[in-house]
Amino acid sequence: MIVAIDGPAGVGKSTVAKLLAARLGCLYLDTGALYRAVAWKILRSGRHPTDHEQVVKLLPLTSLHMESQNGAVQVLIDGIDVAGDLRTPEVTAAASIVSAIPEVREWLLPIQRQIGQRGSVVAEGRDVGTRVFPTAPYKFFLDADANIRVERRHRELVAAGRGGAIEATYRDLSDRDLRDRTRSIDPLVPAPDARRIDTSLLSPEQVVEQMMAAVSTEL
Ligand code: DC
Repeated sequence: MIVAIDGPAGVGKSTVAKLLAARLGCLYLDTGALYRAVAWKILRSGRHPTDHEQVVKLLPLTSLHMESQNGAVQVLIDGIDVAGDLRTPEVTAAASIVSAIPEVREWLLPIQRQIGQRGSVVAEGRDVGTRVFPTAPYKFFLDADANIRVERRHRELVAAGRGGAIEATYRDLSDRDLRDRTRSIDPLVPAPDARRIDTSLLSPEQVVEQMMAAVSTEL
């Protein structure tokens, strides 16, 4: 069974996907972490994420695996576990840029699908319901008011000790949204058969309840 959850940054996808995976006893697949791992390697190698040619050259020289054990997720790029290094502002910005490169998306597709074959999965990202698992029986598209998404993201950054001016968070989120929604390949759009949930005024638990209701009605 695959549950696909898509939506823009700051909408609460990761929190909700983790809770739902725990409720359903499924694996949690954070597809954004794979884009972030590629970005991490590009930065680590001294290349620039906008250098399309250099990014593409690096892909065949890269191995990428995601493992999860007892709830802890490992993201192994060339054998190095980078899971703890993927949320820095540098990697976040670079991931947004490399995710618009068609060859990166093609390269990550089989990796994501292989994880989907390991068992029941709750997968979250931008194109999970439209491209990675288009036949997933359960699809959700989360959205929320832009100001609320900015506030949530800023609170997370503050909690992680990386909170700067909220205006900077607003700019960062707007830039990422624009890139995700307007890129030529697999842009962020709801799958036609996705259930839409506006999370602006809902707690993560309330969103999960709505999802559980939808999943159990259809089971
Ligand atoms: O969900 P996230 O913030 O960890 O994602 C990091 C970047 O990867 C984000 O800018 C968009 C991109 N991404 C994507 O293009 N497709 C996905 N399925 C997941 C993430």
